[in-house]
Amino acid sequence: MPATGGHISFWTHPALGDRLPPGSHMHHAEKKRMAAHAALQCIEPGTVLGVGTGTTVNELINELPSVRENIETVVASSIATAERLAAVGFEVSELSDAGSLDLYIDGADEANKQFHLIKGGGGALTREKVLAGAARQFVCIIDDSKWVGVLGTFPLPVEVVPMARSYVARQFVKNRGQPVVREGYLTDNGNEIIDVYNLQIANPIEMENRFNQIPGIVTVGIFAQRPADRIFMADNKGVRELTRK
Ligand code: 5RP
Repeated sequence: MPATGGHISFWTHPALGDRLPPGSHMHHAEKKRMAAHAALQCIEPGTVLGVGTGTTVNELINELPSVRENIETVVASSIATAERLAAVGFEVSELSDAGSLDLYIDGADEANKQFHLIKGGGGALTREKVLAGAARQFVCIIDDSKWVGVLGTFPLPVEVVPMARSYVARQFVKNRGQPVVREGYLTDNGNEIIDVYNLQIANPIEMENRFNQIPGIVTVGIFAQRPADRIFMADNKGVRELTRK
């Protein structure tokens, strides 16, 4: 599906673009690397940076040492990300100490042309939503497999307080969803994740608000009230930069 609804510019990875034969197909992993690399340009001198979670963000973390002098403070959205940042030499701060963020960079499981997202495939949705909310600018890095017309093909991750698991699951059944508890998984906050299949998220802002009212839900993985501001999306031709109107 073509990307519409925002300013679009086209950017090609300097190291890859020139050697891509026309019509060639890149692997998802290569596209993730390209999208992550493109987002480095957003890290200006003095940046207080929030870093998301997932395989695309891991590519970003691998390259962050190259812009180390521009990063004043770094905050992580998960224990896994904090450990990776420490492994490449960063001292990771708590959000409460850093205050607000200049920039938050994260991946997504799905994105639409309003820059609404589904996130939480990696289970870090609550801390990710906090960092996105605390950031002046939210940059999302994806490969083109994540771009959708209507959110909801990817099962919606929902973080729940463990004792509320069955109650919350029943509320999703009433909404025609098929809830599946992520077996044996606990979030960094000690909660469980329910993945809800079969939801057509036609009105993401309304659904995010409504589901977040259900007692026992910590947060749902719809990021619509606070959408991304910029998306770097890699496809077979390079990286598109999309800016929300
Ligand atoms: C983690 C997330 C990730 O951003 C999302 O799952 C995408 O992951 P990946 O970059 O591995 O495809 O929301 O909670």
